[in-house]
Amino acid sequence: MRVLITGAAGYIGSHTVVEVLAAGHEVHALDNFVNARPGSLARARDLAGRDFGVTRADVRDRVALDRVLAAFRPELLIHFAALKAVPQSVATPLPFYSANVAGTVTLLEALAASDCRRFVFSSSATVYGDPATTPIVETAPRSATSPYGRTKLMMERILEDIAASDPTWSIVLLRYFNPVGAHPSGMIGEDPIGVPGNLMPFIAQVAGGQRHELAVFGDDYDTPDGTCLRDYVHVVDLARAHLAAMDWTVAGSGACEAFNLGTGRGHSVMEVARAFSEASGKAIPIRFAPRRQGDVARLYADPTRAKRMLNWRAERGLAEMCADSWRWQSLNPHGYAAVVRVGKMDESGVGTGLDVARYAAATP
Ligand code: UFG
Repeated sequence: MRVLITGAAGYIGSHTVVEVLAAGHEVHALDNFVNARPGSLARARDLAGRDFGVTRADVRDRVALDRVLAAFRPELLIHFAALKAVPQSVATPLPFYSANVAGTVTLLEALAASDCRRFVFSSSATVYGDPATTPIVETAPRSATSPYGRTKLMMERILEDIAASDPTWSIVLLRYFNPVGAHPSGMIGEDPIGVPGNLMPFIAQVAGGQRHELAVFGDDYDTPDGTCLRDYVHVVDLARAHLAAMDWTVAGSGACEAFNLGTGRGHSVMEVARAFSEASGKAIPIRFAPRRQGDVARLYADPTRAKRMLNWRAERGLAEMCADSWRWQSLNPHGYAAVVRVGKMDESGVGTGLDVARYAAATP
């Protein structure tokens, strides 16, 4: 299949590019590189041993989208492109509504005008808000605790409405729990720009000596050790779920289906810190800090539906997540900043290779 991937240079996007290429599909990557570095795509190309086109464009740029769609003629789209920093979405919500909601609408309009109606959407467990019960099933009530969460919820609703209005669409909503880890090669991984907001990349930088301690946000939750429980899922498992979702869109057209992607197990912040310390052989100094606004005590998936309908299940456990994350961190202490010369990239049309040299210098 020809697969167009938006937000392809991001953390989950780049891992998915590798898996989609490895499965024999054609890929075209689209990214505006606002929150990701082009070096990830250069590494993805090296890992997969195959080249693919890259376009630097924003999903709100209809002219650029039309050019890519006309030239590449995708049969399926995987939509990652979005802003995701929860605290930033509270401070400045408009850019989130614009990039996430308006961006998705523009993308859908462009797709509707072309012949591509298979859509795999990067959603999030954030759409469950503060769930009344765990593990969470897909039919649990949806709500949001931040503007970021509301954008994901709105995007899901838009996609449901589109599928209900026109049976030629085939849409999958993949609700990720907490994606962590890195490709086992250590060549691609999470490269947060600025101070990491999420737990695992922060711990990785503590282990790497870039930060001196981990602040644990809250130790008085109603959980076994008082710290929050989350369902951490290895990013390679997650990337492979997109292949299963792709298969589903081919078999099950005319619907919009949601799937939880998690392991079904909750791990506490303290457990993650301990597991990372074991995997890296480094001490992770801890400081207990007040609760972080908006955090919920427990969030973990019931992943049964993905197993039953997509035949997908997470295979990698916490030790492997930490070991792979540490390999990436120790081999690339500055992320992709050091990756330079790698080929050609088109500014707003269809490129056939990667040229990140110009952008590597421009991105912080
Ligand atoms: N935590 C710390 N210290 C840190 C960072 C995080 O103690 O420095 C704690 C948090 O308080 C939380 C846990 O580690 O209890 C996990 O926090 P993350 O920020 O890694 O992940 P979240 O569960 O808050 O959020 C993630 C994604 C969101 C997504 C959500 C859905 O970042 O985009 O999962 O489940 F919406």
